[in-house]
Amino acid sequence: MPLSRSTGQRSRKPVHVGPAHAAESGVAVGIMDSTPTLHLEAPPVPANLAAHAINVSRHYGAGETVVRALDDISVAFERGRFTAIMGPSGSGKSTLMHCLAGLDSVTSGTVRIADVELNGLKDSELTTLRRDRLGFVFQSFNLVPTLSAIENITLPLDIAGKRGDEEWLNTVVTKLGLGDRLDHRPSELSGGQQQRVACARALVGRPDVVFGDEPTGNLDSRSGHEVLDILRTSVDELEQTVVIVTHDPRAASTADRVIFLADGKLAGYMDDPTQEAILDAMKQLED
Ligand SMILES: Nc1ncnc2c1ncn2[C@@H]1O[C@H](COP(=O)(O)OP(=O)(O)OP(=O)(O)O)[C@@H](O)[C@H]1O
Ligand SMILES: [Mg+2]
Repeated sequence: MPLSRSTGQRSRKPVHVGPAHAAESGVAVGIMDSTPTLHLEAPPVPANLAAHAINVSRHYGAGETVVRALDDISVAFERGRFTAIMGPSGSGKSTLMHCLAGLDSVTSGTVRIADVELNGLKDSELTTLRRDRLGFVFQSFNLVPTLSAIENITLPLDIAGKRGDEEWLNTVVTKLGLGDRLDHRPSELSGGQQQRVACARALVGRPDVVFGDEPTGNLDSRSGHEVLDILRTSVDELEQTVVIVTHDPRAASTADRVIFLADGKLAGYMDDPTQEAILDAMKQLED
């Protein structure tokens, strides 16, 4: 395992949350001592916004068959934090992420990435914003099969015609922990390694936000953990902002905050979550 637990000054919480780890880390014990609280309102709006949805609705179809995938949802994501979005299937998680990332348009409401309002942007401006200011990690990796790992990582820079920041690239690649496998093609890498390459590709342009829709969904638990480790480290040590959708309470417990959705609405949020508290919250929200 190339990555150790976060040690950066900005570190908010360790990656591992569990009894075995708690025994070796005073920090983890401290976190586990206080039970995280499920708040049933929207989280406060921070000053340093990375992404903001304000009264966002996204309806598909019209009339009696209209699907209210998002129904007047307001939620803010703070810069330099790791947020997980959870909720039952069909609750609007992917729709919210797609609207935040300018991959889908809202029916009403406002979406901002940092100080840029997405609503008024033309398609070409949205494409540029996504390329220059956002990173994506998809469940299915989406690497280019004919390119090596390192070529996949630098692809966004190449497309944008940028040389990139060499020091930053080295930092990201070092955190990636793929060592001599950087010249290998995706088919020669494990699923976990491929997804770590996808994480590095998302991070290489120093985006305002890295979005991941179930980034560990296709991985076994160990590989999933490695990917979460990369994302956690990118927040703690590289000051990135990460928002992922996940069904997995263990993955979500890696985040600083969990946002819960239900029926296209915000159902609540929890800071410094643990697996147990997330499971309890999900039960509570089902009742
Ligand atoms: N393009 C579309 N056309 C019509 N309905 C859609 C479309 N995209 C999503 N929906 C509907 O909107 C609702 C929310 O979908 P969304 O994909 O956001 O859910 P989700 O929470 O990501 O679910 P899952 O956990 O299964 O991925 C669902 O009822 C879905 O069927
Ligand atoms: Mg989804």
